[in-house]
Amino acid sequence: MRVLIWIGALLPLAYAALRFSVAFHPHWLHDVLVFLEGYIHLILTRTPTDPLKFLSDLVGNSALWMLALTLLVTPLRSYIGVNLLKYRRLLGLFAFFYALIHALLFVGVDQQFDLFGVQHEVITKPFIAFGMGAFVILLLMALTSSKKLYAKFRSWHKLVYIAVVLIAIHYLMSHKTVTLTHVAVVGTLISLLALRLVKR
Ligand code: HEM
Repeated sequence: MRVLIWIGALLPLAYAALRFSVAFHPHWLHDVLVFLEGYIHLILTRTPTDPLKFLSDLVGNSALWMLALTLLVTPLRSYIGVNLLKYRRLLGLFAFFYALIHALLFVGVDQQFDLFGVQHEVITKPFIAFGMGAFVILLLMALTSSKKLYAKFRSWHKLVYIAVVLIAIHYLMSHKTVTLTHVAVVGTLISLLALRLVKR
């Protein structure tokens, strides 16, 4: 199971690596992929028009869905008796891992570590402040997730509720228009929180 989680969680990175290698080595890899399957060709050979946005969106969405999976662990146990508690920390750490890459791409690559630039972006695009708030909470949770520290800082992990609300706002506000898909994604996150809150 642990191996499956590792493989599944690293798929977005493998996908990004494959897609960029297709862009930089069009001949051999492109030919192999076309030979392999038509649909892989479709997904992988369109070079992202904005590679930074492509990567940032990919890892941002991966962080969101890894967090959703982490939140699913408790309801799975209380509603249908499937106990995956021992994998919850790994899933949560992957959520943090992707959020870290997402944040670093923004601060390090997009803003080139220019803190005034970051400040300007936060002021002009408030959704970034919501993302940062959520990131700080995920960081605190990751740092206190070892067995020993979790026992001591268990109550801090309740902050995940605030983090999810901040992420939902960040996600909705980062798009110019809100579509049905966006509403469904946020609905999924909020439902997962609600399922945890309802005691059984
Ligand atoms: C320091 C913290 C963060 C910063 C600076 C940040 C920055 C950004 C920016 C600039 C965008 C818009 C990208 C674009 O131009 O389309 C964005 C979108 C997004 N962010 Fe964040 N973010 C942060 C934290 C988070 C966290 C913690 C999560 C989830 C766990 C997250 C998930 C997303 C998602 C899902 C999108 C939408 C991607 C899409 O359009 O499909 N972000 N973020």
